[in-house]
Amino acid sequence: MDIDKAKAALKTAAEITEKNRHAFEGGFPAPASEKGVYPKIENDDWTAGFYTGLMWMFYEHTGRDLFRETAEGHLISFRDRLDRRVAVDHHDMGFIYGLSCEAAYKLTGNHLAKETALLAADNLKGRFQEKGNFFQAWGQIGDRSEYRLIIDCLLNLPLLYWAAEVTGDPSYRELAEKHFSTTRGTVIRENFSTCHTYYFDPQTGAPLRGATKQGYSDTSTWSRGQAWAVYGLMLNYIYLKDLSVIPQWKGVTDYFIAHLPGDFAAYWDFHFHDGPEPRDSSASAIAVCGILEAYRQGVCGKEYLEKAYAILESLIDNYAAKAEEGGILKHSTYGRLLGEGIDEFTLWGDYFYTEALMRIVYPEWKTYW
Ligand code: GLY
Repeated sequence: MDIDKAKAALKTAAEITEKNRHAFEGGFPAPASEKGVYPKIENDDWTAGFYTGLMWMFYEHTGRDLFRETAEGHLISFRDRLDRRVAVDHHDMGFIYGLSCEAAYKLTGNHLAKETALLAADNLKGRFQEKGNFFQAWGQIGDRSEYRLIIDCLLNLPLLYWAAEVTGDPSYRELAEKHFSTTRGTVIRENFSTCHTYYFDPQTGAPLRGATKQGYSDTSTWSRGQAWAVYGLMLNYIYLKDLSVIPQWKGVTDYFIAHLPGDFAAYWDFHFHDGPEPRDSSASAIAVCGILEAYRQGVCGKEYLEKAYAILESLIDNYAAKAEEGGILKHSTYGRLLGEGIDEFTLWGDYFYTEALMRIVYPEWKTYW
């Protein structure tokens, strides 16, 4: 990997974020841009934490107070959101509160931030379903039509491992482990492709069927879901050190790599291999983070590392925005069939691409997960 190239890419990403930040004062960027420009929204979506997380990474990278002050300025809004229960009745507490408040506590010792992140962990705990042993992702608790887990939730579990560590209360970790085990046993198919969501019987807890929400079909493989597995399995491995995760991780990672097109930027669903369907560059950025973490954990060889480097170099060369643009990583897709954020910037695409660069430029860097 060309470190100078990664450093230059990180510099451009920081410049973009610094230049655009005035547009979001008193609010946050929307999950996805519209024609290359992020609309400004309230702190009411699952993606707000990525923006604050970007600020924390650029603060660590540049040492400049403007990034720290912007991130710290968000903290009161995250607390207010929980207190007023604004769009918090879902599972995405790790994405929202891990990268904002937990990160603030880890970097600065901010006690309000710690307390807020713990409240978010409690909120996630409240979505645990004993019948089925999983965190219900969306909807009213117990609603039959939403009695399911989703693969993305693997990345919300680190908030619970952290909560168990700082409080000494093992229940956070116990529930996370149960959900992790249920997820591994359902959404990963025999050939190591994945399905997005999995339904359970609310009466008996029996696993019922896989289904997609953002993918092409119930039997296809949504590329970002596969990437959530690549990174999510490894993030859970960090805390659990369960060796049985490793072959599963290799399986889902090999599947992801084998289904990439020539320039390594995933199509939005692996049903597509070529042609004009949009890419989801964010899926590739997420998977790079997962592979770099696996190498750091000593559970994969150099051949995986080389692949992560190749994917990241292609993202830098072909998908990174220029300093004057409205976001960091181009050609990401939120929900193709839902008509949301198609071939746009996405906040998580920007976040995971930047996280991958931070991992390369600072090999000892501690992530916020
Ligand atoms: N976690 C929601 C998504 O990946 O779009």
